[in-house]
Amino acid sequence: MTETAAPEALELRLRQQVLLSEFGVEALRASALMPLLQRATEMCAEGMQAQFCKALEYQPSQDLLLVCAGVGWGPDCVGRATIGADLASPAGFALKTGRPVISNHLENETRFRTPTLMAEHGVRRAINVLISNRDGHYGVLEVDDTREGVFGEADIAFMQGFANLLGSAIERLRSEAQLRIALERQDLLTREMSHRIKNSLAVVAGLLALQVRGTDNADVRNALADARARVEAVAQVHDQLWRLPDITRIDVADFLGALCGKLAESAGAHALRCRAEAREMPADLAIPLGLFVNELVTNAIKYAYPGGQGEIRVEAFSRDDGGLTVAVSDDGVGLPEGFDPTKARTSLGMRVVTNLARQLDGALVVVPGPGARFELRMAAQA
Ligand SMILES: Nc1ncnc2c1ncn2[C@@H]1O[C@H](COP(=O)(O)OP(=O)(O)OP(=O)(O)O)[C@@H](O)[C@H]1O
Ligand SMILES: [Mg+2]
Repeated sequence: MTETAAPEALELRLRQQVLLSEFGVEALRASALMPLLQRATEMCAEGMQAQFCKALEYQPSQDLLLVCAGVGWGPDCVGRATIGADLASPAGFALKTGRPVISNHLENETRFRTPTLMAEHGVRRAINVLISNRDGHYGVLEVDDTREGVFGEADIAFMQGFANLLGSAIERLRSEAQLRIALERQDLLTREMSHRIKNSLAVVAGLLALQVRGTDNADVRNALADARARVEAVAQVHDQLWRLPDITRIDVADFLGALCGKLAESAGAHALRCRAEAREMPADLAIPLGLFVNELVTNAIKYAYPGGQGEIRVEAFSRDDGGLTVAVSDDGVGLPEGFDPTKARTSLGMRVVTNLARQLDGALVVVPGPGARFELRMAAQA
């Protein structure tokens, strides 16, 4: 700024305070660096009543300062023009020493040369402050003018305020970007893992299929076929997991819909219907829930309609208490007399079902017929 009479000077300082505090809010909220640097140069030029302002980013590989934002400069300067970062350039001096630099008479300077960009624009005065943060020295904020006048200590304080806010914002934006990359990487690895697990399980299922063909004993064949079906059920859930938009959450309706689509392939003439409410649950419940439904649907296919065909339903709905109920039912012959899933010690299926219900933190309820109906009543937090 030029030396001004006391009331005007006071008015200018007050205006600078307002600009600085306004910029503080913008710096805290900013989500992208370049628009913020541009805004800083505009507000800084305004506060200094100067013709030019620029933000310079240090390019260590070339030891240059690149004009990355600015006001007052000719076309093609921003994003292209550079200034030497050596000690003989005012901006280079501020960068290398960390000290603010004022030059009110560039043409008479013995300490510095006038960088070409500034000479081309007829700049006579310059003031430079360092933009730095815990990552190091980012660059320099510079205000220039072609007119007579004096930049002073109070101007340094004003500009350093901008530079400090920029330094912190740059640090925050960088760490946010790093965090985003780390999260994307974690997401990718989790997907990759689920994909690989699915492929490995498909190999295991293939081996069991080979073993089925290698035996004449009907019991062994059935046991191996059951084992294969269970391995395939887990593989199918993993195949769904790695495709999820958010790998940590599943949508119950999408999940059960896709699972039933797959189970329908082995349902023969039975009609497998899925009616599930759209509701999210943690993805780590997907495997037990998938297996649970698989066991009960497989049972219904095997036992509900001997020699015939009928409907098998999979439902999921929220209860009034906020919990989720998942039900598998049919209109078939019904469960054997005195059937109690917790006491069906001889068969593996029901033991698996009761264990899964426990894992899912749900109560397993066998609803009286006609037909068979199993309900899993899960707690509200699921
Ligand atoms: N939907 C159903 N309708 C009629 N009976 C059923 C139904 N579901 C199960 N059952 C009866 O309950 C019994 C126990 O089922 P469970 O799943 O434990 O054993 P499984 O299917 O025979 O053998 P696995 O261990 O291979 O599952 C079945 O053998 C069958 O008699
Ligand atoms: Mg069974």
